[in-house]
Amino acid sequence: MTRPRWILHLQASFFRSLMSIGMFLHRRASPSPPSPTFTRSLNTTVSPHPGRVKLHFYAPKGYDAHIKPHQRRRRSVVKRHLYPVVVNFHGGGFTLGHPTDDARWAAYVMSRVGAVVVSVDYRLAPKCPFPTAVEDGVDAMLWLADHATELDLDIDRMAISGFSSGGNMCFTVPLMLQECLLYRAVSRRTAALSTLELENGENVKVVDTIDAPTDTENSIVDPPTNTTTSMLNPPTNPSPSTSTSSIAKDPTKIIITSPLELNIRGVVAFYPPVDYTQSRAARRATCIRHDQHLPALFTNLFDRSYLYPPTLNKANAYLSPARASDDMLAALPEEIVIVAAEWDMLVKETEKFRDRLAGEGGLGKKVKYWCVPGVPHAWDKAPNPFRETPGLAEWYGRSCDELKRILE
Ligand SMILES: *[C@@H]1O[C@H](CO)[C@@H](O)[C@H](O)[C@H]1NC(C)=O
Ligand SMILES: *[C@@H]1O[C@H](CO)[C@@H](O)[C@H](O)[C@H]1NC(C)=O
Repeated sequence: MTRPRWILHLQASFFRSLMSIGMFLHRRASPSPPSPTFTRSLNTTVSPHPGRVKLHFYAPKGYDAHIKPHQRRRRSVVKRHLYPVVVNFHGGGFTLGHPTDDARWAAYVMSRVGAVVVSVDYRLAPKCPFPTAVEDGVDAMLWLADHATELDLDIDRMAISGFSSGGNMCFTVPLMLQECLLYRAVSRRTAALSTLELENGENVKVVDTIDAPTDTENSIVDPPTNTTTSMLNPPTNPSPSTSTSSIAKDPTKIIITSPLELNIRGVVAFYPPVDYTQSRAARRATCIRHDQHLPALFTNLFDRSYLYPPTLNKANAYLSPARASDDMLAALPEEIVIVAAEWDMLVKETEKFRDRLAGEGGLGKKVKYWCVPGVPHAWDKAPNPFRETPGLAEWYGRSCDELKRILE
């Protein structure tokens, strides 16, 4: 029996209200977590469905880029302190949640790592099902790269953190970003080539190895009009093309923007789902505490909202990173920190994924894996207004120590 989508929309808004009450209580506990220092909005470019995404910035002490932006721009090239960046994706099954839910985490990262935390208000299902969240995450990364200078951000020192569905995005966003940067580099190169052609008035034939989109400068690949064919089936190898274009005699003059302009050094993923090819029943069966499951009411809502249409290929790399090819996974950041929860139905798939990334015969990533004992999924977001969740200082602290090392 398929239920009409409007019921999902109703359920989602109902649970969003409940969750915001829960998070309100969570934020009451002392020490009270910070509010965002400032926000920025961007127009999306990756998703075929245009929209806006808000970025919530949490800036550590001493950061003042937001205070007098006009003065700052006029200031000459004095040596400025650049801040490392941790881009954060909140949890809520791609359906619920808000970027301020992770304010406590942001507080730890600011004080222990000295990084600017950018929590992303990616669009949610059921209105925006897969892969909009991932596409919006990629847009956030690209926007930050473009605005790094004015915001004193060091894009050579970036990391991604995320909780639950946001933990999934710790992997899927870099995977999709890799593809987008590739197209972007190629489109910039094509633009540079055509400029040189005009200057020289000469045509020299060159065989492009990549089928480049013809747009210019800041736009990435043309928004896919049919996600089924473009984003959902990422090309593992860009299709070779025999199209010819022109190039100047002196290729050293050509500025090629490397796909590595943005350096994501590591990710910190809290209790991430990484393999949607498994049914919830199969996932539940792996769990050691059946009384601690996320209720089916929620998981059904999440899955019906985000995994749409139901015929969606669940092995898609941007949904189930654990099913991505080795070639794709090799492009993930070198440093991977995973903080699982012992009573979570996602532990087993996460451990398998960890072994693929790191273990003997794995991809050789530096993986730090912790499984927090005796806690359920989303344990750190307890709606207790009277005290901070026990264990938070320890596990957030350890994760921050790793982030500090990674971003040094
Ligand atoms: C974003 O889109 C809105 C409406 O489409 C437009 O008014 C605004 O200028 C755009 N902003 C940027 C920065 O492109
Ligand atoms: C997208 O492309 C696929 C495969 O070419 C096709 O089956 C499907 O009908 C297309 N969907 C839309 C919305 O155009």
